[in-house]
Amino acid sequence: MIGKLAKVTIRTIREKKEKGEKIVALTAYDYPTAKILDTVGVDIILVGDSVGNVVLGYESTLPVTMEEMLHHTRAVKRAVKNALLVGDMPFLSYQTSIEEAVKNAGLFIKAGAEAVKIEGGRQFVPLIEKLTQSGIPVMGHIGLTPQWIHSFGGHRIQGRTAKDALVLLEDAILLEKAGAFSIVLEGIPLQVAKLITETLSIPTIGIGAGVHCDGQILVFHDLFGLGDFIPKHAKVVADLKTIIADGVKKYIEEVKQGIFPALENSFSMSDEEVEALRKEWSKRRS
Ligand code: KIV
Repeated sequence: MIGKLAKVTIRTIREKKEKGEKIVALTAYDYPTAKILDTVGVDIILVGDSVGNVVLGYESTLPVTMEEMLHHTRAVKRAVKNALLVGDMPFLSYQTSIEEAVKNAGLFIKAGAEAVKIEGGRQFVPLIEKLTQSGIPVMGHIGLTPQWIHSFGGHRIQGRTAKDALVLLEDAILLEKAGAFSIVLEGIPLQVAKLITETLSIPTIGIGAGVHCDGQILVFHDLFGLGDFIPKHAKVVADLKTIIADGVKKYIEEVKQGIFPALENSFSMSDEEVEALRKEWSKRRS
């Protein structure tokens, strides 16, 4: 039984690093899933632009729009009482100008998010400064950032050489200085994530970045085997795809064989009313 959970804020997230407590984050895109995550004590719920791949069926996150992100953020917001709710800014919602980015980040806050996440390094320092000065907390995101797949030439682990790892380390330091309250480290060697985590005073949240990060995040659909494939960095804790497929097969069989709906799933009227109905109907037909 879980006791009453305290509301998680960006302050709580910072304090967790100071206390050496791991931060647990997951993505959610809809009300019922967000409600479960929120009730069992997930610290951060991210309405990720991964909604594009795992819910909307796009091949990448690149087609995801602000409209789609806000729609899912509002649904998740209706469920979330305890977790910190972060909205993921989609491709081209923050790259064109600072004004446009602040407006779009503000729309996430109006939709119920308490912070926004943006993918990228030092080039976003002025934007992160502007957002944090405008009262919009920012979660950074560096490494194998999916919105950059074309620049990377595919889904390639980043920071594998000392030279590339130093760029990531510098980016992380610059993001912290600009005011980011935490940074997602995605798809980088665990040694690099360890060095970044030891260097920063804000928490690092890893995905495919090893065990030394201050917290971990996964895409919900990866944790439950619901995606088209299981990425190496993910762990499947329950194979929901098989459970759902078996359940649907059972439903198909029961409908075909007339087992479902049973009496307990049906509504009834009294024998007298049935009799009256039949009498009246046969009168009208004759
Ligand atoms: O969109 C997303 O789900 C993400 C996380 C996995 C970090 O960006």
